[in-house]
Amino acid sequence: MNYHVMTLFPEMIEQVMGTSIMGRATEKGLITLNTVNIRDFSENKHNRVDDYPYGGGAGMVMAAGPVYRTWKHVMEGIKARNPEGTKEKAPRVIYLTPQGKVFNQKMAEEFAKEEDLVFLCGHYEGIDERALELCVTDFVSIGDYVLTGGELPVCVMMDAISRLVPGVLNNEDSAEFESLQDNLLEYPQYTRPVSFMDKEVPDVLLSGHHANIEKWRREQSIIRTYKNRPDLLPDAVLSKKEKQFLDKLIQSEGKNEE
Ligand code: ADE
Repeated sequence: MNYHVMTLFPEMIEQVMGTSIMGRATEKGLITLNTVNIRDFSENKHNRVDDYPYGGGAGMVMAAGPVYRTWKHVMEGIKARNPEGTKEKAPRVIYLTPQGKVFNQKMAEEFAKEEDLVFLCGHYEGIDERALELCVTDFVSIGDYVLTGGELPVCVMMDAISRLVPGVLNNEDSAEFESLQDNLLEYPQYTRPVSFMDKEVPDVLLSGHHANIEKWRREQSIIRTYKNRPDLLPDAVLSKKEKQFLDKLIQSEGKNEE
């Protein structure tokens, strides 16, 4: 996976991506990070990249020129690495914006299949619409709140995508079995000691009975999803028995509320 990030704050991205699992994945060559400073493509003598909005209003707008030239530079770099004919389609260019489609695990899985991903981080009150029309293929938000720029969102996205790249997590299986597998939240986890502040590890986890442990974990996932994220349940993948378990849960909760 090759990430290319167009930003006014490359050091912010590099700091996050140089740390922990992401740092190791980069060292191993499983992912590469190419940050490009949009300011380097300003043709203004003061290196300015923003200007007043036409029509008036608060704040500044990032001008189309520097963004477009940065994008061209990044695309030419990718092309140079993939000479004519070896790459069928242009890489996806993702603009981070609260007006985009809300990022989720399914999108992370789709993006993880790409060879190159180009991200564009905005600042100020946004980017001149013409640059977006010319360069961007995907508009993505990380949630319904407004941040000061796209740098934190891009780090969130790269983290979620990178852990799906083969070899990035130590245990190949762990990405598969975590939260949102089958559209369910993850079950509770415990480690030593068995007793902590008078709270005990559930007996079933100490039983060594794998089938019972698996059943208990699935049921805990269903309970958690029902309580915290019932919106996920219509798309949850459940066995017949698990569906019955959920029906009973809904019934008993309904009774408790009466
Ligand atoms: N830029 C500012 N807020 C954002 C958000 N919620 N998601 C993506 N990009 C953003």
